[in-house]
Amino acid sequence: MCGIVGYIGNKEAYPILIKGLHRLEYRGYDSAGVALISEDGDLKIYKSRGKVAELERIMQSKDTGGHVGIAHTRWATHGEPNDINAHPHYSESRNLAIIHNGIIENYALLKEALQANGYTFKSDTDSEVIVQLIEYIQNTNRCSLPEAVRRALRELVGAYAIAIIEKGNKTRIIAARKSSPLVVGIGQGEFFLASDATPIVEHTDKVVYLNNDEIADISLDHGLRIFDIDNNESDIDIKQLQLSISELEKGGYPHFMLKEIFEQPKTITDAIRGRVNVEMTNVVLSGVIDNKEIFINAKRIIIVACGTSWHAGLIGEYLIEDMCRIPVEVEYASEFRYRNPVINKGDIVIAISQSGETADTLAAVELAKSKGAFIFGICNVVGSSIARATDSGAYIHVGPEIGVASTKAFTGQVTVLMMLALTLGHHKGTISQEFYLDKIKHLCQLSEQIADILQLDNQIADLAKIFTYARNFLYLGRGYNYPAALEGALKLKEISYIHAEGYPIAEMKHGPIALIDSEMPTVVIATTDKIYEKTISNIQEIKARGGKIIAIINPDDNIVRKIADYIIEIPRTCEHLSPVLASVPLQLLAYYIAVYKGRDVDRPRNLAKSVTVE
Ligand code: F6R
Repeated sequence: MCGIVGYIGNKEAYPILIKGLHRLEYRGYDSAGVALISEDGDLKIYKSRGKVAELERIMQSKDTGGHVGIAHTRWATHGEPNDINAHPHYSESRNLAIIHNGIIENYALLKEALQANGYTFKSDTDSEVIVQLIEYIQNTNRCSLPEAVRRALRELVGAYAIAIIEKGNKTRIIAARKSSPLVVGIGQGEFFLASDATPIVEHTDKVVYLNNDEIADISLDHGLRIFDIDNNESDIDIKQLQLSISELEKGGYPHFMLKEIFEQPKTITDAIRGRVNVEMTNVVLSGVIDNKEIFINAKRIIIVACGTSWHAGLIGEYLIEDMCRIPVEVEYASEFRYRNPVINKGDIVIAISQSGETADTLAAVELAKSKGAFIFGICNVVGSSIARATDSGAYIHVGPEIGVASTKAFTGQVTVLMMLALTLGHHKGTISQEFYLDKIKHLCQLSEQIADILQLDNQIADLAKIFTYARNFLYLGRGYNYPAALEGALKLKEISYIHAEGYPIAEMKHGPIALIDSEMPTVVIATTDKIYEKTISNIQEIKARGGKIIAIINPDDNIVRKIADYIIEIPRTCEHLSPVLASVPLQLLAYYIAVYKGRDVDRPRNLAKSVTVE
């Protein structure tokens, strides 16, 4: 949510900043801006409503010279997405410029106090308050910029990742973070700054992840120094990036989302690699094995997550209860953190997050930790805040997910949850050896089966064309496929803006069936599992009311294929892994409907990939 990028060194800053903004655009695209210190020390800000491309267009006629700069791509919180509210923001004297990701909760009080001292505000943002406060402290205390930043941060309530540059100062950027991510890249006589490592990787593979309440004083004179809010200097912990540039590019696909859907045969293999042995007789999730006693003795598991990750969590509940006989609750992180939940010492909290930065999930982790729970993370982004806040965990290893709609992360999360349940069930003795081996076999078939489903690309694109007219959609599934139906509906609504609801199919009779008419397409996941017969009856009920059915079926189906209006045939797997396969055609269906409706698939309106605000 908002992307920030900074550069200081001997190269021209602008090209690095603008490329960095493109990499971070998935975090927000309401407006974009850049602040540069020119060769003569002047501080200039250029900004504009709209996407980074719009800023780039404006910059064609501007002086882009300078070796130090900061830039921002915004997801609006306070103040509408217009030119004025775009970042960076100047301080009163225009000596300082700031970019900010996060929310300052006490901004109104601070603003009033600053206004009483003669400060005038140009924007409606909470962010402008920070830069004004820093300048006020600089002036009233006659202190250095890093000291003024440190003192200002002590006054702020909320979340921030900020970077500040100062007129006349060509050698320094000050940055700080609390609850919003920030990474410093270390090059040869140059430094980079960004919300995540994606703008940095093509320049250096050495990075430092700032911790909460840390301030980075980045200077060409003394290098990188990090202080906490009490002015204690911290050690510099340099990490090596494991990221390649090709993973950040579209690779010939029209959209990142389509690329990421098509990557799934590989990402599933990557998620399994090193965890299932070549003989397919053993699965080991080391985060579980290293904490075997804690897992085996767990009285309860609570899964916390948001959005698509929450859907994966629902499947996790079914898997763990079925195979490990441990009660599982799945909670929206945003609800969990504010409702005084009962958390006992023997509880395990599993936090699922692709980005590892979702503010609500991170807060839920911190709450559970403070109450003594053992925290296990299932994240994608290595070194992310949630991954670092947990006691143990398992990465899903699906590579950067850039399309705002989550696809390969979902299938990776379910795959890891399956491996977790199998590892634990096996060690706990709650599953038979035969069951264990059978499920490992199915796990290892997933990748090829997804490759087969992707062959249906053209068929699904044709089907999508038929349904671009629809204003509403229903997605129905049962058992393990109920969360897959929820996920299918979420995919469609977020990228096509068509209203879609997911339901457990048997719930239809309790209300939603009233919606059915010939205008309402219904997607039913009707795989031939143990509740297949029941699903057939539910489909008949919809057909009897004139509804149009798109059914996801298995090759051995010979009933639903005759009743449904359209079918998509996917390979058969065990019920536990069925949602992984069923979700792939639903991703494609949503993708093509959105494309035919002319939507901006990778950057749907009002959304951002990494939700670092509440
Ligand atoms: C939907 C989607 C979101 C995220 C949610 C949680 O396609 O991407 O619903 O799943 O914002 O994000 P993470 O997994 O990064 O915590």
